[in-house]
Amino acid sequence: MRDKRDHYYWEAKKLGYRSRAAFKLKQMNRDFRLIRKGDIVLDLGASPGGWSQVAVELGAEVIAVDINPMEKLEGVTFIQADITDESLVDTLLELSDYYDVVISDASPKISGVWTVDHLRSVDLAKASFRIAQQVLRLGGNFLVKVFQGEEIQNFYNELKPHFSFKKFHSPKASRKSSAEIYFIGKGFKGLR
Ligand SMILES: C[S@@+](CC[C@H](N)C(=O)[O-])C[C@H]1O[C@@H](n2cnc3c(N)ncnc32)[C@H](O)[C@@H]1O
Repeated sequence: MRDKRDHYYWEAKKLGYRSRAAFKLKQMNRDFRLIRKGDIVLDLGASPGGWSQVAVELGAEVIAVDINPMEKLEGVTFIQADITDESLVDTLLELSDYYDVVISDASPKISGVWTVDHLRSVDLAKASFRIAQQVLRLGGNFLVKVFQGEEIQNFYNELKPHFSFKKFHSPKASRKSSAEIYFIGKGFKGLR
């Protein structure tokens, strides 16, 4: 069996990050300046917490959501919930009137069937966007993971009118074999 523990795995262990995914957010934040000091950040699909750790390091206040539990993290308010549950938005808006940045690394359980995993991932990415539309402040930033496949262009077309800057990006820390890609939307134009 292939050893999945690569450079980023060991780097994460060494530096005390809960996931190698932490490096993807670090790289995307360096390249696209998504999170700034003082921001209120909503982290969707947050467990085990690597992205939340990076956001806290950047000086953000973090509200994190995952369907699975997450170990306590200083500076992070955790909610165990399903992001496809429509009532989650009310809870989020009780915690903060608005969010500066919404990030989502939510992934479905991998079935191994490319199309199935792709479609489930698109559903999670759309659920993340539905939440972002209701909680993001005007001018806010959005970052979401999606597995590549036939629906990717439709997904992009759906999101692009809502942001002044938009693109798909694959950070170096993503495995070369991975189907994942990240949609980056900056300058949210608000609900319309
Ligand atoms: C790749 S992990 C996220 C890793 C995280 N960004 C980090 O750096 O530690 C994907 C997460 O999405 C979560 N997830 C999947 N479906 C979800 C759903 N419907 N609602 C909330 N979280 C979900 C999983 O439980 C899992 O923890």
